[in-house]
Amino acid sequence: MCGIFAYCSYLQEKDRKTICDILVNGLARQEYRGYDSAGIGIDGDKPGEMFFFKEVGKVAGLRKKIAESNIDTTKTFLSQVSIAHTRWATHGPPSIVNCHPLKSDPKAEFTVVHNGIVTNAAALRLLLQKRGYTFESDTDTEAVAILTKYIYDSQPDKRPNFTELIKTVLKELEGSFAFVFKSSHYPNEVVTARRGSPLLIGVKTEKKLKVDFVDVEFGGPEGENKSLDALAPTSPKGLLAPPSAPPMTRTQSRAFMSEDGMPQPIEFFVASDASAIIEHTKRVLYLEDDDIAHIAEGELHIHRLRRAEGPQVAAQRTIETLEIELAEIMKGKFDHFMQKEIYEQPESVVNTMRGRVNFDQNVITLGGLRAYLPIIRRGRRIIFCACGTSYHSAIATRAIFEELTEIPVTVELASDFLDRKTPIFRDDVCVFVSQSGETADTILALRYCLERGALCVGVVNTVGSTISRETHCGVHINAGPEIGVASTKAYTSQYIALLMMALQLSEDRLSMTERRKQIIEGLHSLPSQIKKVLDGDRGLQELATGVLSNQRSLLIMGRGYQYATCLEGALKIKEISYMHSEGILAGELKHGPLALIDENMPVIIIMTQDSLYPKVQSAFAQITARKAQPIVVCNEGDDGISKNVKTIRVPKTVDCLQGLLNIIPLQLLSYHLAVKNGFDVDFPRNLAKSVTTE
Ligand code: F6R
Repeated sequence: MCGIFAYCSYLQEKDRKTICDILVNGLARQEYRGYDSAGIGIDGDKPGEMFFFKEVGKVAGLRKKIAESNIDTTKTFLSQVSIAHTRWATHGPPSIVNCHPLKSDPKAEFTVVHNGIVTNAAALRLLLQKRGYTFESDTDTEAVAILTKYIYDSQPDKRPNFTELIKTVLKELEGSFAFVFKSSHYPNEVVTARRGSPLLIGVKTEKKLKVDFVDVEFGGPEGENKSLDALAPTSPKGLLAPPSAPPMTRTQSRAFMSEDGMPQPIEFFVASDASAIIEHTKRVLYLEDDDIAHIAEGELHIHRLRRAEGPQVAAQRTIETLEIELAEIMKGKFDHFMQKEIYEQPESVVNTMRGRVNFDQNVITLGGLRAYLPIIRRGRRIIFCACGTSYHSAIATRAIFEELTEIPVTVELASDFLDRKTPIFRDDVCVFVSQSGETADTILALRYCLERGALCVGVVNTVGSTISRETHCGVHINAGPEIGVASTKAYTSQYIALLMMALQLSEDRLSMTERRKQIIEGLHSLPSQIKKVLDGDRGLQELATGVLSNQRSLLIMGRGYQYATCLEGALKIKEISYMHSEGILAGELKHGPLALIDENMPVIIIMTQDSLYPKVQSAFAQITARKAQPIVVCNEGDDGISKNVKTIRVPKTVDCLQGLLNIIPLQLLSYHLAVKNGFDVDFPRNLAKSVTTE
């Protein structure tokens, strides 16, 4: 959903680096966030001179364009403050004019990169056009760049400092955003801000830092800024803070003085995602919504755009140390990230369980939940809320959750949950499942539940993400960075994390002792069983390149625990191989979908042995009677299935864990179908990894 990147270096001249490489690498690492176009903006050596390189499509195209340019981009420019962007198109098609950085005017007095959607951009555009400003692009972002210039131009007598200027701009904006602003009027500075979209700042310096936190500077309350409707009578919100607006109180927010108090060589990296920063530094600071960070003269200051509503925020931002390694975000020996992540599952599921499952004593300890267990147990109901694959992990574990805890569980798609304005009460427990922790719909649902006083629990992969910070408590799934847009290892880890939650919640239920023991034993065998499923990859490749190749549609059916597997398998197939695919609850077959069945309709039926096996057998009979030739996912050693039927064999495990094994052949199948058709596996068309807009 767009990746933004900025590099601000205050190194001595002899130590300066080749900025273009740093920027383009920063974008390449975030390409999964959007790959409709990519662009960078760097300063030339003359005052006010700025170069832009933009290309439609992936970052590799931009890299090539830069290499072929007649500007010597390998030299180290005097100003090393520069911005970059990889785009997932929302306003306007992928094109050079819509590619970021967007500028306010031909001279690029103000340039902006943006992740998110400014929802009042059309009104702003109208207002600015009436005042004589012209637009080149279809984007909402250009309205922000031009608005910045308009506000700057309107205050010729008393120019605001860069932060105050941007603070005024942000007050006019509605929607969600993470921005980096750069300006020829404020050379060697950037201002970056967020509301609803992720943003972090990496800090790299050789010297020991004096402090490890940044104090936040709070501005005056909202009401203190008189609206200048007189200057902008048609403004949707009343543009401009008056020059007399109270200045922000400047407190000691210099986080980066060296011990001797002297200015020091330092580099800052602003990004949407830690993966763009990790190769430079592990020391990062996550911005909160309504934070405005100003980087200048080797210093970082954080200010707050104080708003009347919303939760109180801490007055300090701590510098954290990232725990991911560079190797984790590289493809290694694999052709694609998705393939690597599918193959990582024997280890990623262990990482989810590590230190949490005591296999000898059948005890589960999720440290982040321990203090909240009594409240959860007393809750009137549990609501799982998520999108896409994360939603499927909730469907997959709902039955075992209800069985073990005897608490009613509902599963909600975050967008629909909000559309319905679902009633939420103080004794509800709401569990938000998200790989990225940044999905806009899920975050909005979380805030909706927080406002209504429910206990909010996060089940998140990305440490430091918005959902992991804003929930009361939770579980990190520890699957490691997931880069492929199609989620694979996060699904299996979310599934296990939710299952562990249910196991921990039921630890005091004597009647469940045997069942819990059986499941925990099953978890123990899981990594080796996943390896066994992966061993069958060659057969799946043959299916994808043989009987399933060139098909237009594929139905995947099953029931009970396997319904989630069907939904998730179908999602994988449609999102990367662009083949229509539908997950069907076998119990619903005769209520409609059976009409689709004939000898030409490809079907996969999941028929592993659990208590619903006879019912799935009867669904199998119903479709074969209509001449379907289903491929059957079944357990090893199940010889009730005719030799003429194509099978995908998987090891048998406990019923509620079987979905963890059954999904893997479907992940592999979707992967091979996409490769066979020459599709871009890690970057499926029209999608992005982290959906930070509604
Ligand atoms: C599918 C996929 C998406 C995400 C969904 C939620 O492969 O990746 O459906 O699962 O966008 O994302 P998170 O889990 O980051 O909230």
